[in-house]
Amino acid sequence: MNNTSSKYGLVSIFLHWLSALTIIGLFALGYYMVDLTYYHEWYKTAPELHKSIGLVFFLLMVMRLAWRVTQITPSHLPSHSAVERKLGKIIHSLLYLLIFIIMISGYLISTADGRGIAVFELFDVPALGSSIENQEDIAGLVHKWLAYLLIALSALHALAALKHHFIDKDNTLNRIIGKGQTLENINEKTVN
Ligand code: HEM
Repeated sequence: MNNTSSKYGLVSIFLHWLSALTIIGLFALGYYMVDLTYYHEWYKTAPELHKSIGLVFFLLMVMRLAWRVTQITPSHLPSHSAVERKLGKIIHSLLYLLIFIIMISGYLISTADGRGIAVFELFDVPALGSSIENQEDIAGLVHKWLAYLLIALSALHALAALKHHFIDKDNTLNRIIGKGQTLENINEKTVN
């Protein structure tokens, strides 16, 4: 369940892959829905789904961040260079930051008219009391361009993991799919 100094626990692994799937799904749905015409059968449903999943995802990300700060982070592998460690840290922080700004801007687009958001028709998230001028347009631009940037950075993040796996042949990718080795194995590998 918990992380150790050499491995990610089940909760971190589950939250990582569920977030990845949700981001790809929300991006694809968002991209698809903005071009739907009024008479399309998904015209109303697709944005409702996008907003509901987006708001549930916000809760998931709060849990993920809480888990992240209360758990040990597995230490870097010896094969990670100083530059890779620094770059990894910057990219990971940027990914978290972008996700939160995208979720907040999505909320601001949807509530610009003063109406709250129904989440799967289960409960409502209220709008803020007041809105700023052109809120919908400004939040819309932020949402769109940061969503593109998020997908580009996520692709870079995935490419880095593949580089570690296939070129450096280390455990970076294995650790996040639950196939990580124990600290003893890793030490053994460094010694050899
Ligand atoms: C990481 C999470 C999210 C991603 C990756 C994402 C992605 C996208 C994308 C790619 C678009 C299409 C942008 C365009 O081409 O104009 C879009 C539109 C939209 N999203 Fe999101 N979204 C996310 C979360 C949310 C949340 C939490 C909400 C609201 C609660 C939301 C509300 C909207 C709305 C209302 C639009 C339509 C904007 C318009 O009509 O111009 N999104 N989203």
